[in-house]
Amino acid sequence: EKTLGIGLAGFGTVGTGVWETLERNLELILKRTGVEVEIKRIAVRDPKKARLKDVPTEAFTTDWLEVVNDPDVDIVVELIGGTTTAFDIVASALSAGKPVVTGNKALLAERGKELFSLSLEKDTPIHFEAAVAGGIPIIKTVQDSFVGNQIESMAGIINGTSNYILQRMTEAGLGYEEALGEAQQLGYAEADPTLDVNGWDAAHKAILLATLAYGFIIDPTKVYVRGIERVRSTDIEFAKRLGFVVKLLCVVREHEDGTIELRTQPSFIPGSHVLASVNGVFNAVAVIGDAAGESLFYGRGAGKDPTASSVVADIVEAARSVGEMKPGSHRGFLPYKDEGKIMDI
Ligand code: NDP
Ligand code: HSE
Repeated sequence: EKTLGIGLAGFGTVGTGVWETLERNLELILKRTGVEVEIKRIAVRDPKKARLKDVPTEAFTTDWLEVVNDPDVDIVVELIGGTTTAFDIVASALSAGKPVVTGNKALLAERGKELFSLSLEKDTPIHFEAAVAGGIPIIKTVQDSFVGNQIESMAGIINGTSNYILQRMTEAGLGYEEALGEAQQLGYAEADPTLDVNGWDAAHKAILLATLAYGFIIDPTKVYVRGIERVRSTDIEFAKRLGFVVKLLCVVREHEDGTIELRTQPSFIPGSHVLASVNGVFNAVAVIGDAAGESLFYGRGAGKDPTASSVVADIVEAARSVGEMKPGSHRGFLPYKDEGKIMDI
């Protein structure tokens, strides 16, 4: 068995989580799957930052091209975030025929058209379980487990930072800024937390779920997005008195005429509803399929270890496909429609 080389771009919250998880569970993964992987190179931005002490210093570089082009790197894992350099990394890896693993929902929701086309053209998959709902295996659920269903709707809480902030404001009486600072400290927030609180991180995830369920690339300018940044303690208090809680809710739904409704907005949820008890960093997604009926997926939606769990699962899946892929056997996202209609809201 060949040990497959992993190249990491990014060694922040998620990247270090991936290193630690692999270090802890490599033997177990090998026993379970026969897959053996080793992180060979790691691209970072700041060469002076203190890193995990057991990572050899020669593994690090500040030039991501060295990672992608390293002949010992078979699979490229993009964990830097953003839509510019991350795009170049993913595009270069796919062009070189190296499978990609990424947790970057902004990249795939904003620039998925180009990247998924390239992935198809090069017959090289992009795996992105970590991009939606952290440790919850919702991508594989929609893509694989629900493949025999028409998906009627998907709805839920898919931004851990907003959910954490709302809970801390509700239960600990914290101010908005203080609660956001805690979410950043805990590694839940994006490098640019604006995306968490203005609803766009959740909207990017909803776009990816809708893309998988309905088979076409969604134009982000067509979706309705409101975040929690204008939610005040008085709104939360008012909701409470009426028996509701405030949550940032995403709804993706297919209407009878085939129009797709896609919205992200703070919503009043009855205190007795199951989503009302999804607190802190937890996420939950309810999926309704015509065959399966309703299923609810619940778990940690952000943070180092839960996200690493999804990245590592994708690394193993990518590793299993290396060498086995035959031309035309692409096992990634396959758009099956050129376009669809998004509901005007
Ligand atoms: P961090 O900000 O913690 O880490 C980013 C890493 O990328 C750092 O190591 C940084 O280097 C490196 N980096 C940034 N720019 C460059 C560059 N141009 N060249 C080389 N390295 C670079 O981010 P996270 O780990 O939190 O998030 C990474 C990705 O995972 C994002 O796409 C995010 O949306 C996604 N994600 C995050 C989750 C979370 O809970 N945090 C959950 C799910 C997905 P340096 O260390 O030198 O600063
Ligand atoms: N910032 C994101 C969140 C990370 O809070 O949900 C997980 O995608």
